[in-house]
Amino acid sequence: MKISVIGTGYVGLVTGTCLAETGNEVICVDIDESKVEKMRNGIVPIYEPHLDVLFERNIKANRLKFTTSLDEGLAHGDIIFLALPTPEDEDGSADLSYVLNVSEEIGKKIKEYKVIVDKSTVPVGTAEKVHKVIAKNASCEFDVVSNPEFLREGFAVDDFLKPERIVVGSSSERATALMKKLYNPFVRSGNPIIVMDEKSAELTKYAANSFLATKITFMNEIANYCEKVGADVDMVRAGMGTDSRIGKRFLFPGIGYGGSCFPKDVKALQKAGKDENYDFKILSSVIEINSSQKTILLPKIENYFKNDLKGKTIAIWGLAFKPETDDIREAPSIDMMDALLDKGAKLKVFDPEAIPNIEKRFGDKLNYCESMYAALDNADALLICTEWSIFRTPDYGRLKQLLKNPVVFDGRNLYNVNDMETEGFTYVSVGRKTVNL
Ligand code: UDX
Repeated sequence: MKISVIGTGYVGLVTGTCLAETGNEVICVDIDESKVEKMRNGIVPIYEPHLDVLFERNIKANRLKFTTSLDEGLAHGDIIFLALPTPEDEDGSADLSYVLNVSEEIGKKIKEYKVIVDKSTVPVGTAEKVHKVIAKNASCEFDVVSNPEFLREGFAVDDFLKPERIVVGSSSERATALMKKLYNPFVRSGNPIIVMDEKSAELTKYAANSFLATKITFMNEIANYCEKVGADVDMVRAGMGTDSRIGKRFLFPGIGYGGSCFPKDVKALQKAGKDENYDFKILSSVIEINSSQKTILLPKIENYFKNDLKGKTIAIWGLAFKPETDDIREAPSIDMMDALLDKGAKLKVFDPEAIPNIEKRFGDKLNYCESMYAALDNADALLICTEWSIFRTPDYGRLKQLLKNPVVFDGRNLYNVNDMETEGFTYVSVGRKTVNL
């Protein structure tokens, strides 16, 4: 099939590349000339495991092309994916101007039947708006479909190629048939393509992300309470997660969720509720709790240093909002670093991928280190903000030798508490007992 993808951000690139992988002819459109030039030369503009291999293969096979010309993109695809940014407005709602501006152009330019697919996460009612904007000028038939993505950064290729489900919001049989044809190769294992109305599809995305954010936040509260009563959140998690109604995943407590999706989507759904006079009380709590969770370790660090962080050097492992990405959007590390700098601490930081992005945000306020051990040299304590695999089995001897004090504040519960106790570390984590304090 002929596919166009408008917008080569994270979602657009993964969508375009993976659709080319099943033999479709894909053209990706972006207004950024230098980015398009780079992509034509096989350079993937984002860090996403495994994307580079597919990217190169499909460019070579001539199935994946890039252009700055919207006209070319609109003429090419039978299905046109809109993968445009929907940034958060000041009031928390999603800004639809990119989506609606391109829709206006689509209306003016398409000359034969096309399916326009909303791939961006958009508020309920957007497909209807897009339809209206296109219909103003359209001289041919078209359909608008909502097809939210559920990709996780770091696993996006796998998530796209082997989705647990595909959600298609469509009220046109013709468009539904095309979408099914497009996605069938990805659900051969029997996973469903769930067809519903456009509004339900739009809400599904917000509901799924808000539910997951709530699940994490609930566990964070349980963890905080565990500390008050001397329970161990790892045990509670194991006891709860084995109930198949609850499930094991997304029950890991820590210093809060971040990223480009959860924070934005939870706020957007809360705001959308308000617009309809519906108060999503649970989401307001989730937002508030997550915000304080990000710095939950701060008072513990202050306490350890007797409320005097001036001139103390803290090593930080992990800056990205989660492992396997260089994305630092809404990362808890940022809140922690802002707070620690504010208290006069010096920071030596290491992350396998996110340093360039952090450097843009913090400039020369931080000491950027080449390796996890370099960050420890002469530091007064270690703080862990992201659970990269490389941090999971450190050389404890080296840690003790390099750190001025054997103290670890672990925002992601990477280590076994008893092991850390035996090794002689002062070890502070989330929802578990503190040892050797
Ligand atoms: C998420 C959704 O999973 C995905 O379906 C959607 O399309 C986009 O948003 P992503 O933001 O890439 O994906 O990351 P995810 O792996 O879901 O993690 C989100 C945040 O939750 C991270 O900050 C992570 O550290 C945190 N998290 C996750 C926890 O704190 N505990 C958990 O148990 C799981």
